[in-house]
Amino acid sequence: MAYLNVRNIQKNFGATRVLKGIDLELERGEVLVIIGSSGSGKTTLLRALNFLELPDDGTITLDGEVLLDASDKTMRSDEEIRKNRLHFGLVFQQFNLFPQYSVLDNLTLSPRLMAKSLPKAERKAKIQAIEENAKALLERVGLSEKAGSYPCELSGGQQQRVAIARALALSPDILCFDEPTSALDPELTGEVLKVIRSLKDDRRTMIVVTHEMEFARGVADRVIFMSDGVIAEQGSAEEIFEHPKSPALQHFLRLSKEK
Ligand SMILES: Nc1ncnc2c1ncn2[C@@H]1O[C@H](COP(=O)(O)OP(=O)(O)OP(=O)(O)O)[C@@H](O)[C@H]1O
Ligand SMILES: [Mg+2]
Repeated sequence: MAYLNVRNIQKNFGATRVLKGIDLELERGEVLVIIGSSGSGKTTLLRALNFLELPDDGTITLDGEVLLDASDKTMRSDEEIRKNRLHFGLVFQQFNLFPQYSVLDNLTLSPRLMAKSLPKAERKAKIQAIEENAKALLERVGLSEKAGSYPCELSGGQQQRVAIARALALSPDILCFDEPTSALDPELTGEVLKVIRSLKDDRRTMIVVTHEMEFARGVADRVIFMSDGVIAEQGSAEEIFEHPKSPALQHFLRLSKEK
């Protein structure tokens, strides 16, 4: 069985069927890129994988552990969902940093909260490790010197790199990105894409929703093309970008080139 196994994810908002039975697999260390037109369900799928939406049907299995079985109502306690959410990290289009906290505190806030439940004797060492890890992650994304700054003092590209470091600070098994550069000016997208590429070099398992087709082609091990709530086509980067089969994907790629 693949590292991540997603079966038959369905999600309706009222009468609108947004995800109509999504199946996907991902191996450890692979990068899955999701492309598709606006409204096809990409964000909803990422939110479902991150337990921000509860699917109406389907299962999510990670490393042999069933994290979600929508038919099993016993799996829905808040505590269970919080625990399962930690397997995934999500970087949003709009960064979503905490504006009232410094860059370093943005990284350490959630891990510190989790350390609160530790026995006092272990807590101090844990908090020190959290701080050190956060500093190392800031260095990793090239922002060591901004540890004491506030989000409003940073450029969009810098804020997004902080958001990436913040997601990494929780050591997720799979890091997900939802159009991480689409809120950025073109000259700032490069620095963010470079960080994501370097995470691939580290063999991080990632799922990336993006409209940056050149980047997608370079970083993807597998590509999924979503259309109207289903996976209309999937394959290697070469298969999807060089030899698209369905007219819908051919059309989508043509439109992307014109932009
Ligand atoms: N909370 C919600 N309530 C009702 N409808 C929703 C909700 N969230 C999403 N939808 C609908 O689900 C569909 C898919 O939305 P989604 O945001 O997943 O698309 P997307 O592929 O991410 O699009 P984009 O490329 O524009 O980000 C859309 O028709 C949207 O209006
Ligand atoms: Mg979206």
